[in-house]
Amino acid sequence: MKIHIINGPNLNLLGKREPEIYGSITFQEYFSTLQFKYKNIELSYFQSNIEGELISELQEADNNLDGIILNAAAYTHTSIAIADAIKAINTPVVEVHISNVYAREDFRKKSYISPNVVGVIAGFGLDSYSLAIQSLINFNNQ
Ligand code: DQA
Repeated sequence: MKIHIINGPNLNLLGKREPEIYGSITFQEYFSTLQFKYKNIELSYFQSNIEGELISELQEADNNLDGIILNAAAYTHTSIAIADAIKAINTPVVEVHISNVYAREDFRKKSYISPNVVGVIAGFGLDSYSLAIQSLINFNNQ
């Protein structure tokens, strides 16, 4: 089983960006723990701060993958283009947020991408990604 994780803007700064919200370990460190935990799953990871690169990655990733985990970060709340890209591909996408976006500012409560994903996981810290992998395993076994 192949799962690709796509992280959007500022998530390259995990570990030092607002650690009280996003935690104090880097995504690379967390990714290693995911690889250790899900040894039977082929995990890959991409991050970009650029909206168009995230769209290209969604389009290109749409080949022989079982799932995509997408944290579009702030683009979640602004990007019709990313929402359209998700709709245009066949691979199931799970939307992930580290923080509980519904407990924060009002502008974070709106997601353009939610209507086009199979499900949303938010608020469990970095563990949201692990829960998303688990959900894709279950989704593919349905
Ligand atoms: C985030 C929440 C977004 O509102 C924010 O812009 C981010 C990260 C999260 O993972 O909690 O950059 O997607």
